[in-house]
Amino acid sequence: MRLPDPALVVLVGASGSGKSTWATARYRAAEIVSSDALRGVVGSGEHDLDASADAFTMLEQVVAARLGRGLTTVVDTLGTDAARRRRWLDAARAAGLPTVAVVLATPAAVCRSRNAARDRPVPARVLTSQLAGVAAAATQLPAEGWHVVRVAPEETAPERDEVVTEPPLDRGTGLRGVVLQLSRFPAEGDLLAWLRDVADAAEAAGLAGIALMDHLIQIPQVGRAWDPIPEPWVTLGALAASTTRLQLGTLVTPVTFREPGITAKAAATLSALSGGRAFVGVGAGWWEREHAAYGLGFPSGRERLDALERGVELMRALWAPGTKPYAGRRVSLPETTSYPRPVGRIPVIVGGGGVRSLRIAARLGDGCNVPSDDNGLAKVEHYLELVRAQGRDVSEVHATVLDLPLVGSDRDDVWARVERHRGRTAAAAFAAGHHAGTAAEHADRLARLAERGVTTAFVAPVGLATADEVFALAPLASAFG
Ligand code: CTP
Ligand code: MG
Repeated sequence: MRLPDPALVVLVGASGSGKSTWATARYRAAEIVSSDALRGVVGSGEHDLDASADAFTMLEQVVAARLGRGLTTVVDTLGTDAARRRRWLDAARAAGLPTVAVVLATPAAVCRSRNAARDRPVPARVLTSQLAGVAAAATQLPAEGWHVVRVAPEETAPERDEVVTEPPLDRGTGLRGVVLQLSRFPAEGDLLAWLRDVADAAEAAGLAGIALMDHLIQIPQVGRAWDPIPEPWVTLGALAASTTRLQLGTLVTPVTFREPGITAKAAATLSALSGGRAFVGVGAGWWEREHAAYGLGFPSGRERLDALERGVELMRALWAPGTKPYAGRRVSLPETTSYPRPVGRIPVIVGGGGVRSLRIAARLGDGCNVPSDDNGLAKVEHYLELVRAQGRDVSEVHATVLDLPLVGSDRDDVWARVERHRGRTAAAAFAAGHHAGTAAEHADRLARLAERGVTTAFVAPVGLATADEVFALAPLASAFG
């Protein structure tokens, strides 16, 4: 069981019980506020008891400041003082942080022998009274109002992230699983070589596919206007040539950029070139600036949604077998001659969580795409209800989310990345917004999304720039079973 994060974590344990060892195996040095370490800062060393009062004054200040910023704070002291625990608990509650108490229930004999082996052992009777204090605290904690009280048995090996290096054998079919969404590209160097490296890493990591954002100018959410953003269908063609297994498509292409018949032709060609690995994520478009810059119209939201609805119907008509005329509800075509034929069915994922987008997705598409937050999960539920109401089988459709995780190799790397990318957003808010964590932690989170009916996560890691960072997503590949 993972502990909540960010959180206040208060350790309770006698000298030599392993508090500092437990903490440093799990948290960054800056997250651990230790009375011993602060004695070393304001006094002559970690065991300078004369410096205790000053050390605890500082400790209280650091704890209050970190909690006030919503940052994880691990308090490494004996933890046996109930009044102090109360104060920290109240401060964390005021900051809206979950609270965790961890009791290091290490046998007395083990604490004693470790203590005896130290340079400056605490006197035996002091240790005895510490052990009694810990036992007393352990009985009080359940009534104090902690969100989690954990008793860490001595034999608990420090949990380190286990990296799954073998891709799972059965990845499910098609788009199910984790699809890497690429949104930023190198400004210099060989773009094709970079794409090949990234695609190789995605295949080796067991990811289900690669999706490309479709924008004419790099969007401010990702980078600067002069950062490169290649045309997706051309780029997907290059990816088709250098991969054998990945699903390839857009997430999402706006119907305002190309007439849907042209998108249908591009996707059918990609399907033919890739042996049936093409998908189309399509949406109504939202960014006026890129339309103006490229001389494209930008009609009202309602008209764009009308175009989206017609567009999906038209693509389906062109991909259907034969060349016969098509007369549908919104679209009529004198013939549907379109070759090369796509290989198999091209999944159409309709982006956007609006009422109408979800309806279009359920009626005409093969999937929806919504954000991966709680709000998005509610939309997934709604979408699946709409699918059932259409008399369609939910196992045939894709309930997809767009996920923007901040992924680091370990806790230090995670927080270095938070600092690098947070801009002017407060660190705690940025970390929470991007679920900042290791790949193993993201895998757990995605597995919980899967339990709620999500079939596919389009994952666009914050600041992703290298093939190594793509390969590091391997643990996510098994999140969808
Ligand atoms: N130790 C160990 N195995 C563990 C935990 C701790 O061998 N699972 C060892 C540590 O290497 C260290 C000693 O036990 O030498 C005490 O652990 P420490 O984490 O320093 O204990 P604390 O509770 O932090 O002790 P203190 O209150 O004195 O800081
Ligand atoms: Mg310690």
